[in-house]
Amino acid sequence: MTTAQPVAHLPAPALRVLHAAAEVYPLVKTGGLADVMAALPMALTEAGADVRLLLPGLPAVLESVLHARTVADLGAAFGALHVRLLIATMPGSGLPVYIVDAPRLYRREGGPYQAPDGAEWPDNLQRFGLLGWVAAQLAAGEIDTTWTPQVLHVHDWHAALACAYIADHWPTAAGTVFTVHNLAYQGLFPHDDWALLGLSARFMAPAALEFHGQLSFMKAGLKFADRISTVSPSYAREIATHEFGCGLDGVIRGRGSDVSGILNGIDDTLWNPATDPALAASFDPVHMAGKLACRRAIQADAGLRADDNSLLLCIVSRLTAQKGLDLVLASLPRLVESGVQVVVQGEGDSLLQEAFSAAQRSFPGRLRAYIGYDEARAHQLIAGADAIAVPSRFEPCGLTQLYGLRYGTVPVVRRVGGLADTVSDGVTGFVFDAATALAFEGAVLRAMRLKRDAPQQWLEMQLRGMSQPLSWQHAARAYLALYRQAIQSRQSRPRRL
Ligand code: ADP
Ligand code: GLC
Repeated sequence: MTTAQPVAHLPAPALRVLHAAAEVYPLVKTGGLADVMAALPMALTEAGADVRLLLPGLPAVLESVLHARTVADLGAAFGALHVRLLIATMPGSGLPVYIVDAPRLYRREGGPYQAPDGAEWPDNLQRFGLLGWVAAQLAAGEIDTTWTPQVLHVHDWHAALACAYIADHWPTAAGTVFTVHNLAYQGLFPHDDWALLGLSARFMAPAALEFHGQLSFMKAGLKFADRISTVSPSYAREIATHEFGCGLDGVIRGRGSDVSGILNGIDDTLWNPATDPALAASFDPVHMAGKLACRRAIQADAGLRADDNSLLLCIVSRLTAQKGLDLVLASLPRLVESGVQVVVQGEGDSLLQEAFSAAQRSFPGRLRAYIGYDEARAHQLIAGADAIAVPSRFEPCGLTQLYGLRYGTVPVVRRVGGLADTVSDGVTGFVFDAATALAFEGAVLRAMRLKRDAPQQWLEMQLRGMSQPLSWQHAARAYLALYRQAIQSRQSRPRRL
């Protein structure tokens, strides 16, 4: 009888994951998606996955990546005469990044979605159709045979079309996860442009991409991804309702338990008051004096009265209807009269920009509006303010309240989406329910009174927020579990039409 030999335990091969998205910090950023795309792939790598990114070849991407070389020549596609797939290295993280280089579609001045005048690029269908098409081909092993992902993770409508191409052409390719960072932006295009996509005709139907006579990229992800996630558990529940579903709640309910919410984390190498190079002084839970120095620096820079006792409230936000800033505008007279100082930094909707500029003229020394985008100042404001307001009408996750928590800046938020999941009323911040100026005002005044009348309790609230676990590790583990489900589901029941 032979004795059994011990079996050598080789480490399990790392799960290969490809993330496809339109933006990534610090190369291209219009909002929180970019922050997530920088931090989540890193966290997954640290958790043992083999992660790569896929991005469109926007000028800032091509200028910033390192060691770019061509993987394949893809010829003409989506109106671009010459498309190439490059591979390069991300600055900072060192992760491999594929880049779709299509000069005619991507190499231009302006934002990733909009021209410098704020209008959507007229060829967004081709620009993001191509991104999805290349993502699908990579997932199917059609372009780079040296590395084929087991999971394709697509983010927002920008990359969602990949799920439809996979369903149409390669139904047994990689498992797919579609993350909805914001259901309100859906990638809707005229029905007549349908033929440009090169999908089989049956996909232009209500059971697939058609949405009230239009063509919806968002629906490609919602209908054909193996698993759908959103960026907080509350938002995952909300988007299945008529109130928050943006017309897609029926489709979302139809996916049942395939839809889940995984809360975003924050990158605390970038957002850490003890090491943040943008700040006038550093601080941490046991050395809070630096926070007062940051506060005075803001007051000086913003031309606000040097007043250590007021409540200094900041807002760092895209200026859009989503963010509920009309509630702030309507509350200003009473807040300012009560001694609250306000600093706003934002850009977007021109009416909101004008309204905040006008408020600055009405409340000199009390309100400062920085119209524009400035990453370093965002850190300074969030570090130096006493409180940060996020009064959103809806908020899939929200990152600025998390940055506030980390910097001892007490969040004042509406009980909605990720705000409800991350801020606890009276414990780490102030939470209000109704989307009214009165409710917002009430929450800010509660914060003001706590700071003024009970400084020890205020400090305790700050410290509880600063020690709240906000790292990406937990989310990374949850995504890895979701990836395994997606692969299993793809193998047992591939999604086709
Ligand atoms: P959203 O993605 O809906 O805009 P998030 O709270 O998830 O909301 O993320 C917003 C991100 O954009 C944060 O990193 C925030 O600091 C940043 N941000 C928003 N507006 C500005 C601005 N005007 N200047 C600098 N950073 C900004
Ligand atoms: C979206 C959402 C925001 C979320 C971000 C990152 O832009 O509006 O709530 O934090 O994506 O997931």
